[in-house]
Formats: sequence, C-alpha cells, structure tokens
Amino acid sequence: MNADQQQVASDPNSPHLPIDRLIELVRSGGKVRTGVDVFNKHGLLLLEKSVLVEDPQILVKARKLGAAMVPVSEQQTGGLWDRKGRKIALPSMAADAAGAEKPNLAAAASDVDRRINEIMTMKKEAAYKYEKAKSCIKEVLESIRASGGEFDPEPVAATVNELVDFVSNSDNTFAYLTREIFSYDDYLYNHSINVCTIGTVVMQRFSNTFGTAINTFLNLHAGEIPLVRPDDEQSFVYYTDSELRNIAIGYFMHDLGKVMVAPRTLNKTGKLTPAEFAEVRSHVTDKASLILEKNKITDPHIVNVCRYHHAGLFRHEPDCYPEHDYRQVPTYVKVCKLADIYDAMTSKRCYKEAMNPVGVVTDIFHHYAGKNPLLQYVLHSFVKSVGIYPAGSVVTLTNGQLAYVLDSNGPTLLPVTDTGGIPLSRRAEVIIPDQNQTAEGEQVIKVDRRRPPISPLEAFHLLPGYLRRTLEVDFA
Ligand SMILES: [Fe+2]
Ligand SMILES: [Fe+2]
Repeated sequence: MNADQQQVASDPNSPHLPIDRLIELVRSGGKVRTGVDVFNKHGLLLLEKSVLVEDPQILVKARKLGAAMVPVSEQQTGGLWDRKGRKIALPSMAADAAGAEKPNLAAAASDVDRRINEIMTMKKEAAYKYEKAKSCIKEVLESIRASGGEFDPEPVAATVNELVDFVSNSDNTFAYLTREIFSYDDYLYNHSINVCTIGTVVMQRFSNTFGTAINTFLNLHAGEIPLVRPDDEQSFVYYTDSELRNIAIGYFMHDLGKVMVAPRTLNKTGKLTPAEFAEVRSHVTDKASLILEKNKITDPHIVNVCRYHHAGLFRHEPDCYPEHDYRQVPTYVKVCKLADIYDAMTSKRCYKEAMNPVGVVTDIFHHYAGKNPLLQYVLHSFVKSVGIYPAGSVVTLTNGQLAYVLDSNGPTLLPVTDTGGIPLSRRAEVIIPDQNQTAEGEQVIKVDRRRPPISPLEAFHLLPGYLRRTLEVDFA
C-alpha cells in the first residue's frame, strides 16, 4: 500500500470518512469543515481545521497529497452540510444514494482493514454509477429501436459527465465498472460504458502528459511560437475539458449503430459471410450517420468517433472500415479503437473466456508500435492507463497462490490461499511482487500473466469472510 495514503489528524477519535465521499458532496454544492487539522505522513497540512471547504479542488488536491480517509470532528466545529445548508448527520453520510452501507470505520485497525473498507466503498459507488449508466444506455437503445433512430441526447450527456467525474476522481476507479456479460444487449451496455471509461482515462492521461509538455514548451518560447494543432498525426494535440467531455460522449455512443443491425448477425459466433460482414460494417458506415443526423448531433468529436473507430491505424491494416487515410485519424479516435479492442478481448462472452488484461495490453502495444512508430504517444498513455489488476480483484501468482489485490499500484497483494489453492487459515503478509526478489534480482513470485482473471463468483468460496463481503457487490 502507498504509505503516502496514510494521514494523521490532531484528533484521532474523530470519525473518518472517505475523501471521495466528501468530494462528491462538495461537487454537489455541499460544504465540509473538518474541525481538526489534517496532515499527510510527511507533516504537510492538507486541510485546515477551521476552513469551510466549498471548492472540491481543495479536497482533490488533498487526496493527491495523501488524504484517503478524512476525520470530521463535530465537537471541534467540524461538520458536513448539503447544498441547501442543512447539516448532515455524520453516521448517515457514509451511506450513499445507492444505499451503500456505512463503512466499518471503527474496525479500521490496520492499513489492510482500512484499504478493504475503501475498496468496498468504491465498489459500491461504482455499482451505483454502472447501474445508472446502464439504464441510460438501455433507454437510448430502446428509443432508437422504437423510433428508427431517435433518442434524447440530454440524459446521455449527464450520464457521461458523471462517469467522467467518477473515473477522474482517483486512480483506476474505472476498473471497478466492469461486469460479466450474459447477453448481447448486456454486452452493448457494458461495452459502451467500458469504452467510455477506458477511453476517457487514456485521453486524460494523454492530455495531461503531453498538454503539460506543450505548455512548458510554449512558456519557454512565449510570444515566439503560436500553438499549432496539426491535422495529421496528431500526436501533440492538447484537448480542453469540454472537448474531452464530448469525446467521452462519443465513446459512450460509438456503437449505437449496432442497434439497427440484425441481432442474428451480431450474435453469430462462426465466420461471417460477405453480406453479413457488410451488415456489421454498416453500424459505422450507414447507421451511425443516420442516428447522428436524426438527432442533430454535429459535434465533430462525437461524429468522428462514431464513424471512424474501425478505421486503420497503419497503412493497409486489414479488416478496417470505412476506407480512410490512417494519417487523418484523430488521436481520440485512435484511443477509441484501442479501448474497443481491449474491452472485446478482456470481456467474458458466452463463447470465449476473458483474457488477462496485462497480456492483452502488451499484445496491443507490440502489434501497433511495430507497425506505426508515430502511435507511440497514444500507446504510451494507453499502456500506462489500462491493463492493471484492479483493487478488489483476485489474481493467480506464478507459485499457484491466489491473491487479493489491495492496490493496483505495485500491485499490492494479499495472498489468500497456499500454493495448492487451499484457503489460508491465518491472514498472510502483504506482498508486492516487483519488490519480491532474490539477492540476484530474480523475481520469485509474480502475477501469472497467462491466466485469465478469476471472476468474483469463482473466487468467492476460496476467500476468508472478511474479504468475501467486498466481492458480494460484484454479483448483487
Ligand atoms: Fe464498432
Ligand atoms: Fe465497439
């Protein structure tokens, strides 16, 4: 676990609340005053006790500097207020609108317990966001089917904005959104949400990484060089926040055209005939344009994503459509294509197992980096953003043990079985495989990248009780 995430307060008896909850409260117009000074482990003051926090960025910054669970002391004039100025009772604050249970804060006796509580809170929040997004996309699909192409774009923008805020809140939260898929409609719901969240995370990283570089460069040469946005090979394009939000809407909508393709063709597991392949292709060549036109959607980011997310990323890339010069494919469309491939390969379908996310991301990187070196900036952001083992998932180690992921950074793992797969009767030591090396520098235990991830359902009966409760939300 990242030691920076620990914090100390001047009043250790105050109830501690997840900072993500507080950020959400302030974003919705509420206010927070801690009543106690909050420091990180380096002694840096993150939140001053008497300051009434009305700007969510203050909390976002505190989180970046190490705040995870924040004490709020009512005895010391601290408290929480909703957007109408009404005081929120502390015990009910932890239960969110989805009906999440109050985290067992009193039980946070160790880092591991505290981390498990955080994972539970995050998973419940993700489950709530996922259900909201799913009902949104479901309504859109039903409306398109019933009307021959029309739907209400407004709730889509609101839903996508919520997803963007959720995945922007902290590292790897998007990984909590994935679900097992049981039908094609389920696949479309899931795929729309996944491509939206994965693509958004990659684009944010791309924009932050290269946007910062561009800004530094421009500051060094202030007045000498105008900001240029090249039309081809857009490796160094900076996207504004509103552009990124439209791009995210495009990701959410990228496959809407499939609703107008015969389910028989989409569900076919064997080789498609040329006519069937043309029908599948029509989801971007014809149907997407029809839906966009009927709903008067003209934003170029949304239009480009819907029309070109199957275009080639290098010269003569096979099975790509429509015909399009690969050098003219905008960066955000390239990201959509990569997220699309990644999600298809890492999703479990009725006819195939899910593949290991780290293995998939490595394959995608080598496939494209070798064919088009100029894609490297996009691939760099992609590799850095996805292919992680999400906290709360279960992985297999090369020595045969199963381990619960406490933190995707590292990753930080808690072994839960012995090397023969028998559940451990006592809690094991936390390990970080990359740091688990012999004196010669050879790693003795690694995550087994050949094995697909283990579904929560499969792992459930192998886990000790204190971890089982964190998985229940996965198949609630
Ligand atoms: Fe598609
Ligand atoms: Fe897709």
